[in-house]
Amino acid sequence: MTVAIVSDRSIETPPRAPSPTQGFGTLAVHAGAPHDPVTGAVIEPISLSTTFEQTGAGRPIGAYEYSRSSNPNRENFQAAVAALEHAKHALAFSSGSAATATILQSLAPGSHVISVSDVYGGTHRYFTQVAQAHGVRVTFTPQIEVDITEHMREDTRLIWIESPSNPTLRLVDIRAVATAAHARGVKVVVDNTFLSPYIQNPLDHGADVVVHSVTKYINGHSDVVMGVAAFNSDELHSRLSFLQNACGAVPSAFDSWLAHRGVKTLHLRVRESSRNALAVAKALEASPHVIAVNYPGLDSHPHRKIALKQHRDGMGGGMLSFRVKGGRAAAERFCQSTKIYTLAESLGGIESLVEVPSAMTHAGIPRDQREAVGVYDDLVRISSGIEEADDLVRDVQQALEEAVGKSDGNGVNWNFTK
Ligand SMILES: Cc1ncc(COP(=O)(O)O)c(C=O)c1O
Repeated sequence: MTVAIVSDRSIETPPRAPSPTQGFGTLAVHAGAPHDPVTGAVIEPISLSTTFEQTGAGRPIGAYEYSRSSNPNRENFQAAVAALEHAKHALAFSSGSAATATILQSLAPGSHVISVSDVYGGTHRYFTQVAQAHGVRVTFTPQIEVDITEHMREDTRLIWIESPSNPTLRLVDIRAVATAAHARGVKVVVDNTFLSPYIQNPLDHGADVVVHSVTKYINGHSDVVMGVAAFNSDELHSRLSFLQNACGAVPSAFDSWLAHRGVKTLHLRVRESSRNALAVAKALEASPHVIAVNYPGLDSHPHRKIALKQHRDGMGGGMLSFRVKGGRAAAERFCQSTKIYTLAESLGGIESLVEVPSAMTHAGIPRDQREAVGVYDDLVRISSGIEEADDLVRDVQQALEEAVGKSDGNGVNWNFTK
């Protein structure tokens, strides 16, 4: 009886479905977040059951049969991301890499892909070592807006963009690439991991698909590995959801629930990370120990105009990289000398991280290819967390003193006490 009364009340409750006219924060909190119609729980329960009862053969009681094919927590997370990326559909995967792999697998054998050169190392590895086995060939270009038509072939099916790129923070004019690609019937995918949907919505600039490593900003707490792809095409939805189920690279209900919880504070975290990154980028730019700073929030960034056009309020995001004087040894020493930043791979969490891409995330890319896009041995990548900006600036300044200020300028550190 009690259940019936509660259910009646839920029927009387006005629909809570968020409207696309609402702002990002409202959508982040409410999209894909229905209250439980039976108990009234404000936060969705975690649906751990792998299988769902049927009243007759092939007649499930509700919308679910088996958790690989669909699960309530995954669906709610997908609905939230779709709303934030201004997409009709979103599909979640067990990792960002699985999202990338599934999109590439959806191409027919013999397809050709054009990609920006400085993609995430794992994406580069998939393109060069796995996609080929499926008969998909990838051409890399460091200046896709300029030479996209030169690289187009009869069998070109996809353009792959990362903007900002990892780890050099170069930006691509998505609209310019999409216009050139669509003129030839070619689809455009944008990896939006570095900015999150709060700062950039690639579909609004003409992209066909946006992908994320949810592991980063969307989950935001460095405790879930997951990926997502969002898009508008119904046809692509049926193709990718077939592969999502057939390949089985799906996230667990628990991870989907955690990532959905992360989504609800995405705007707050990303705003703070971006503010911190700008403060640190300015301090680095002013330091005599630094050769160059890559941060799209700085006026000195070569693609600042694109940031002003594509990013919310021209924000630069939480990621930046810089070249330190003293070569690889100084870069490594810097990372070992920070007291707040942790030396670790990954990014987009609440805690600040620092790493040397040439020796860590991008070690698998041959030196000549890496250096051609600015990934030198002295490059340090920073992921700004949500700590206090003043503390982060002080930490970076003392680590630079430790790594460079105490050396002879040739990378030899004379501080024998460390
Ligand atoms: C830009 C970018 N795309 C994709 C990925 C792959 O995501 P995942 O580690 O969740 O497989 C990463 C991982 O670092 C990344 O940085």
